[in-house]
Amino acid sequence: MSRGFSSTFLSLLLALSLALAVTATPIVQVRDNFVRLPLAKKFNLTGTHTLLARDQARVKHLNALAKARLAGTPLSSDAVIGVPVDNQAVSYIATVGVGNPATQYDLIVDTGSSNTWVGASRTFVQTSTTRQTRDRVSVTYGSGDFSGTEFTDTVSLGNGLTVTGQSIGAATESEGFDGVDGILGIGPVDLTVGTLSPDTTATIPTVTDNLFAQGIITDDLVSVSFEPTNTVEIVNGELTFGGTDSSKFVGAITFAPITRTSPASEFWGINQSIRFGTSTSILSNTAGIVDTGTTLTLISTDALRRYQRATGAVLDNATGLLRITPTQFANLQSLFFTINGVTFEFTANAQAWPRALNTAIGGNTNSVYLVVGSIGTPTGEGLDFINGQTWLERFYTVFDTGNSRIGFANTPFTTANTN
Ligand SMILES: *[C@@H]1O[C@H](CO)[C@@H](O)[C@H](O)[C@H]1NC(C)=O
Ligand SMILES: *[C@@H]1O[C@H](CO)[C@@H](O)[C@H](O)[C@H]1NC(C)=O
Ligand SMILES: *[C@@H]1O[C@H](CO)[C@@H](O)[C@H](O)[C@H]1NC(C)=O
Repeated sequence: MSRGFSSTFLSLLLALSLALAVTATPIVQVRDNFVRLPLAKKFNLTGTHTLLARDQARVKHLNALAKARLAGTPLSSDAVIGVPVDNQAVSYIATVGVGNPATQYDLIVDTGSSNTWVGASRTFVQTSTTRQTRDRVSVTYGSGDFSGTEFTDTVSLGNGLTVTGQSIGAATESEGFDGVDGILGIGPVDLTVGTLSPDTTATIPTVTDNLFAQGIITDDLVSVSFEPTNTVEIVNGELTFGGTDSSKFVGAITFAPITRTSPASEFWGINQSIRFGTSTSILSNTAGIVDTGTTLTLISTDALRRYQRATGAVLDNATGLLRITPTQFANLQSLFFTINGVTFEFTANAQAWPRALNTAIGGNTNSVYLVVGSIGTPTGEGLDFINGQTWLERFYTVFDTGNSRIGFANTPFTTANTN
């Protein structure tokens, strides 16, 4: 079970501990069972079509990865990247320390992969806590790849909290990770199978798994809080290991079991249906995934056609996104996502790409671009949608490994007019 966390309660404890600090020794240490890591949102949009092309390359990769895993065969590299993709376009970055003394690395937070590694920009610095394993490590992503040596080391996550003996990769080669140091992989642990050599059948516990195993957090879960923004770089998110931060969501958390439908079941997958307005069905109940590494909200090709018809949007050649006029936007109805019987409203503002960033993606300032795009395949493939960053910025999400489920809640920003 996840528990709510009251910031008022913390303030109270803090006040109490300060009071105690003056009147008594030793100082009572205030510590809770959560590990909070701030997240920075970073855009790097170079060239046109980047957003959609990159997201679709990622989908192709995730499908290829799942198929290879289910068949027990290696991932064929030609099955992965169909379009040239420069770089990650929009990333959520957490800064974590490795070693003692710790070197700080800026890592992309990725729920669609599970290896944690550093060294893409800043070289890995070994200290007395660093232990080299006998393994080489190599991972391919939709937007690049990395290979290197696997170490174990101490990882610090702020608040003075550290995980010891965390298995991490140190890149000797990487591609597609300019401006960041690597990845903090918080996907299902099985995705690490096959990334080590010679230990090809070994799994690598994620940071969440180790925090739990070492008793630092009491629940094996991580919560993600993103916020919508229209600036290019901002610290406005939070990863909460081991609990939920009640200052970041409103109302109850709805949990949905991990879907049984493959290949979505290999990732953080759920069943969901989508409706436009009061009665236009866009996608009937089907499997897909929730993914911090995808920027847009992607739906199957036939669902996108229905959405395009409902919105009156045209496909914009310059950006690759659907485009509507300000008048159409003024009349745009909400999308409703139903997950395990509970409906979440994705407002008109939520559906719009931040207009201050239109020109950054090759668009013009007078149009409205929609963040709902095509996943590239028709409904029925077992991965028919991705609720990406643009969706996660409107809903609090709990990736609950211990109970094989994902939780969702509204936030103070669910209906915000940002954009
Ligand atoms: C942005 O992407 C371009 C193209 O891949 C890359 O050359 C550049 O270093 C990146 N900039 C940052 C700040 O990440
Ligand atoms: C999800 O939907 C599929 C059919 O689309 C169904 O078989 C399955 O029972 C549903 N629930 C879960 C948790 O997978
Ligand atoms: C769309 O863009 C491509 C290249 O970006 C260009 O070759 C093509 O002529 C454009 N089509 C239209 C209809 O504008």
